[in-house]
Amino acid sequence: MNTILVGAQWGDEGKGKIIDVLTEKADIVVRYAGGNNAGHTVFIGKNKYVLHLVPSGILRKNKLCVIGNGVVVDPIGLAEEIEGLKKLRVKTSPANFVLSETAHVVLPYHRELDAQREVLKGKHKIGTTKRGIGPAYGDKAARVGLRVNDLIEPSRLEEKLSMRIRENNAVLTSLGAKPLSFKKVFADYNAAGKFLKPFVQNTVVLLHEAMLKNANILFEGAQGTFLDIDHGTYPFVTSSNTTAGGACTGSGVPPHRIDRVVGVMKAYTTRVGEGPLPTENAEISDLLHGMGREFGATTGRPRRCGWFDSVATRHAAMVNGIDDLAVTNLDGLDTVETIRVCVAYQHGNARYDFVPNDAQALAECRPVYVEFEGWRAPTDKARSWKQLPAKARAYLKAIAELTNAKLFIASVGPSREQTIFV
Ligand code: GDP
Ligand code: IMO
Ligand code: MG
Repeated sequence: MNTILVGAQWGDEGKGKIIDVLTEKADIVVRYAGGNNAGHTVFIGKNKYVLHLVPSGILRKNKLCVIGNGVVVDPIGLAEEIEGLKKLRVKTSPANFVLSETAHVVLPYHRELDAQREVLKGKHKIGTTKRGIGPAYGDKAARVGLRVNDLIEPSRLEEKLSMRIRENNAVLTSLGAKPLSFKKVFADYNAAGKFLKPFVQNTVVLLHEAMLKNANILFEGAQGTFLDIDHGTYPFVTSSNTTAGGACTGSGVPPHRIDRVVGVMKAYTTRVGEGPLPTENAEISDLLHGMGREFGATTGRPRRCGWFDSVATRHAAMVNGIDDLAVTNLDGLDTVETIRVCVAYQHGNARYDFVPNDAQALAECRPVYVEFEGWRAPTDKARSWKQLPAKARAYLKAIAELTNAKLFIASVGPSREQTIFV
């Protein structure tokens, strides 16, 4: 059984937590897109783990974790993440972690360009994580990127890097930024390449060999549907295909080998960074931030919060082919008296029941809400469907129905135990 798990909103839906839960029944967990712009949080007991590049499956024993070809890898960040996991007693070795030789490498000029372009955009900035993701995917598409197999061969790294640094330094200095020292970048990246070399493999062949042995593969999406480069709220998006199709191109596993798509969504909506968010609402933002929740796992920025947007999640179900839904953070609404759910967008005289492609139109859309009476009771101790308040069950049923997919999991807290299979 091969399952793709995707975010159905704007990222940070709780994918890390649900991946950790589903990994129990998987053999292999594969990251297929994005880079260390992602931050996936998993709580095990009192320990908190935030994964950026390493698949969240690493926290369970005897699971193979794969970084696929579709990911962009900051090798220094990855080496630090592996070292950080070691300090938390999570062992990462070539036996449980492999890195695709064709994944692209994020270089310091990508990060610098990312930051400079944001400055140039001024008030039209994207609000990126400044991890160099856009410029790294840009180089990949322009066919001037370095791949992991370049990183781990010092002579190739030296030759390609020196050419790329020359061109990028010309651009950086023209933007008023400092040029990079080839010597320093080469030394740092060569060291990271040496550290990572034992993990590097042809992951496409590896995954196909595993499928011949009937392995269960779980694909760990990063970001969310509306941050997808094609299907998101362009230009306020990331630079990869975060949606289900990206799992195939980003891993080399063909579409007909995928059995199921799980969509993860919060019981409300959040977004970090700029761009349209039709149901954004100060009341729910203040409530969640006041509880110490909804601060970015990668950059620490407060996330923008809003009511559940079923126009968006229905669109996500369509684009990803979502079969099953995992709804997280139900407990975030425990104290709310009247809960609103967006069921359509109004734009002038037009009413939309899908997300319009024009970012300007979307920014001008007004949400049409229906209201639900809140359950006003704690849900975090519920361990079964029956233990949830009746009004919470009704709410979950309604948002699943509006999304057009089957309710599979309700999550009532960050830990493994706070997971209800419906
Ligand atoms: P991801 O990027 O999709 O993996 O999500 P993040 O880790 O960035 O953000 C989700 C946040 O919600 C994390 O802090 C999780 O620990 C937390 N979380 C996930 N599910 C639940 C839940 O059901 N209830 C609560 N209270 N927190 C949750
Ligand atoms: P996970 O996997 C939420 C957002 C950034 C910015 C936009 C572009 O944890 O859900 P980028 O650095 O990718 O060029 O930034 O995308 N963004 C995320 N928002 N969760 C993420 O990942 C994100 N990764 C990128 O905030 O708005
Ligand atoms: Mg996150």
